[in-house]
Amino acid sequence: AAAEKGNYRHFMQKEIFEQPTVVAQTLRSYVHQANNSVALPQIDFDLSTVKRITIVACGTSFYAAMVAKYWFETFARVPVDIDVASEFRYRQPVLEDGGLALFISQSGETADTLAALRHCKAEGQTIGVVVNVPTSSMAREADLLLPTHAGPEIGVASTKAFTCQLAVLAALAAHLAVKKGRMDRAEEEEVVRHLLEAPAALNAALDHDEDIAAMAHLIAPARDVLYLGRGPDYPLALEGALKLKEISYIHAEGYASGEMKHGPIALIDEAVPVIVLAPSGPLFEKTVSNMQEVRARGGQVVLISDAEGLREAGEGCIATIEMPRVHPLIAPLVYAVPVQLLAYHTACVKGTDVDQPRNLAKSVTVE
Ligand code: G6P
Repeated sequence: AAAEKGNYRHFMQKEIFEQPTVVAQTLRSYVHQANNSVALPQIDFDLSTVKRITIVACGTSFYAAMVAKYWFETFARVPVDIDVASEFRYRQPVLEDGGLALFISQSGETADTLAALRHCKAEGQTIGVVVNVPTSSMAREADLLLPTHAGPEIGVASTKAFTCQLAVLAALAAHLAVKKGRMDRAEEEEVVRHLLEAPAALNAALDHDEDIAAMAHLIAPARDVLYLGRGPDYPLALEGALKLKEISYIHAEGYASGEMKHGPIALIDEAVPVIVLAPSGPLFEKTVSNMQEVRARGGQVVLISDAEGLREAGEGCIATIEMPRVHPLIAPLVYAVPVQLLAYHTACVKGTDVDQPRNLAKSVTVE
């Protein structure tokens, strides 16, 4: 049956709001709720021998790879290389024996990613695929198939596939850590418990839809917007900038907040909104100090944080968006919501074609 928008104005909006449901649905096939353990759909595959992981993807799926690198390395202590697919094959990557090559794709058909997959297969890598379309080319060519259960994604700009990819990758990182002897049962249970908190936290994030819609009027007149984040939330800054570019056609850049002093701080003035993603947690103070550097130069900051973070650092910002207080593990999933909604509502204010932005395709099947 043809996908329906229901009560939503756009598919993208509907897909943003489906995230609590589809993330829960995806997690159901990756965790045993009875004992809070991770269970991959294909448990006959022994990950304990994996020495190195290469992750390749494009667009939003690449940002999921960036978050995953952080998780694989901190949980499992397995070194991870990541590349955008269009660069990967042409840099003559060193692929060691016993390597796992992971490909992340909503469609499973992106030409550059598929070509990279075939290259890795020819080089003897084990092929893992995190993919939303179960009948796709990538799904068929996988040794280790890790489906996301986001359902059909129609809006060109990816949203729900991204958060489902993150859910799968977090479960995979925990599973790998267990297999590698880097995570004990108690820690695994804790990770699973936090992952299972994601759907409710996504709902709580979506409750701020109206505030974000109001804030979009502040962003819509801008010519340039900067997004800042740190650690696993740095890729979310990149994702926020990508979403805004894709559908509202406003130039935006994502930066690691600590890197801002090496360039983009020169751009700061009253006309450039700076969106700061700073969940409470180990990196909060550092990000806030970067934010103060922006403020000291007249920068207009929009702070996205939880109640505690906003209490500590929200003063003097032109706007704030309150997120639920969550464990740092699931912050990248939860903070995807405000950056998606901000791009969505800004595009609505500008009157662009949200579901079919100019020059873009849902699935890029040419190199
Ligand atoms: C296109 C879409 C993006 C998507 C990217 C990768 O550029 O517009 O939303 O992130 O392709 O697609 P994939 O299907 O491989 O995840």
